[in-house]
Amino acid sequence: MTPSADAQRDLIAYLDFYSEAGVDAALDEHPHDRFREPEAPPRAAEHRAAAQPAPRRAPPAQERPAREPPSSARPAEPQRTFGQAASAKPDEAASDARARARAARSLDELEAILKDFDSCPLRFTAKNLVFADGNPEARVMFVGEAPGADEDRVGKPFMGRSGQLLDRMMKAIGLDRSEAYVANIVPWRPPGNRNPTPQEVSVCKPFIERQIELVDPDLIVCLGSPSTQTLTATKDGILKARGRFYPYRLESREVRALATLHPAYLLRQPAQKRLAWRDFRLVRAALDGKA
Ligand code: URA
Repeated sequence: MTPSADAQRDLIAYLDFYSEAGVDAALDEHPHDRFREPEAPPRAAEHRAAAQPAPRRAPPAQERPAREPPSSARPAEPQRTFGQAASAKPDEAASDARARARAARSLDELEAILKDFDSCPLRFTAKNLVFADGNPEARVMFVGEAPGADEDRVGKPFMGRSGQLLDRMMKAIGLDRSEAYVANIVPWRPPGNRNPTPQEVSVCKPFIERQIELVDPDLIVCLGSPSTQTLTATKDGILKARGRFYPYRLESREVRALATLHPAYLLRQPAQKRLAWRDFRLVRAALDGKA
């Protein structure tokens, strides 16, 4: 049945309203009334067993690993659906992430493992995994928060306006992406560009930690508060935390992480660029062995 012209207008207005509010992705086939769901969702393992007959969700072609991940990293079970990932216990998902991240012996393996990882619901709403950009041999690694719409479309971090500003800031200290490695705490875009939840961050954390380990940079630059608070022990807000070096423990040595302001914040607060400029000069000095 075709809805009447009035009903169509109402529907369009309704969708516009959601879109204005930042709701731009459908998360599941059916709406859920979360308030009516049982307090304690079934344990992930039982949930998966109950769902055995359900057909395996085929990931879109661009999400499929280019080659087989190592057998130690291959999931033994069918992939989960969005609903199953969303109701998996965060601590189970995080320990699954830790085990898989540990198994990666190279950045290629880590990327393949992440492409197969289905315990973070964000992967079901994102178009692409946003793993990294730049030079894996670089001495400096920039870590942002999470991809936005441009990055999700392209599959690389810092592709939009924040990325252009980051490139200009790097250029000002004589760096470009061929001399730096760029990644995010969370490698999938949160729907509607919302902030990643603490659960999403803790599930993704083992992967960024392993990524840092495998890049083995001399200096990590944390862009913004979520990156700083995830990778360093500080709980200070970014205006207090920025401009300071924090110890960062790699497997075989200790390096430093410098906190600075996120380029997206600088686009909103251009007067603060002078603080970021001070921090970027520290980056240069650290790379030159002068700080
Ligand atoms: N902001 C981030 O933190 N990361 C990106 O990749 C893009 C914008």
